[in-house]
Amino acid sequence: MPSTRSIEVFATAADLFHAAAEEFIRAGRAAIGGQGRFTVALSGGSTPKALYSLLAANYADFVCNRIFLFFGDERHVPPTDPESNYRMVNESLLTKIAIPAENVFRVAAENPDAAAAASDYEAQLRRFFELKPGEFPRLDLILLGMGPDGHTASLFPDSAALEEQSRLVVANWVAKFNTHRITFTFPVLNRSAEVMFLASGADKAGMLHQVLEGKNSPPLPSQRVQPSDGKLSWMIDEAAAARLTR
Ligand code: 6PG
Repeated sequence: MPSTRSIEVFATAADLFHAAAEEFIRAGRAAIGGQGRFTVALSGGSTPKALYSLLAANYADFVCNRIFLFFGDERHVPPTDPESNYRMVNESLLTKIAIPAENVFRVAAENPDAAAAASDYEAQLRRFFELKPGEFPRLDLILLGMGPDGHTASLFPDSAALEEQSRLVVANWVAKFNTHRITFTFPVLNRSAEVMFLASGADKAGMLHQVLEGKNSPPLPSQRVQPSDGKLSWMIDEAAAARLTR
């Protein structure tokens, strides 16, 4: 499947999240129709929460027992912590849909040893996708956001994880937050069948212009997400697109 990149701009955040929910379900139906299952990595942060709430409200009857949910990254905190991506997803989606607990693959980020939590999560992925040594998983859909510094998942500028080429998941030290984050690596992101970036709000406009239209050396982490054999879709609202030349 040739790689494609699309940028869709929606008038409002509400329009953006409705379209993102429809694309999520479209990708889900296609994957379940084709392979009998839909493997998705969810993103954290604040932006996707509205999408998760919409999926819970409008698509709770979707064949949840064929959906397998992973997390593209996680903060190094227990699942009860307000900072936890799992907690956000659990409250906005998982507690509202009939998805079997065994279909949700959580990062055991309560483990004080972040590297061990990352290795454990990699082992979960390798088991689920029945990977041989050196193989990478191909998720059907990976949701991503973009941070104010151009980071995505927990791949931050000037951080060690940017150069990881063999592991699927690493504990990435983020100096400015003085903590580790557990994150998918670029090889996993770029082997996905589809990557969907969501960006909403005026505070994203400057960085979005840099990421989508800028020539940065080195490239910003969000610019390095280029599925080698998949679809890359940027779904953004007008406020976030304000600085784009169109
Ligand atoms: C996280 C995310 C991170 C996020 C961006 C955007 O754990 O924080 O995975 O990559 O997508 O920081 O965050 P907002 O959606 O809150 O702007």
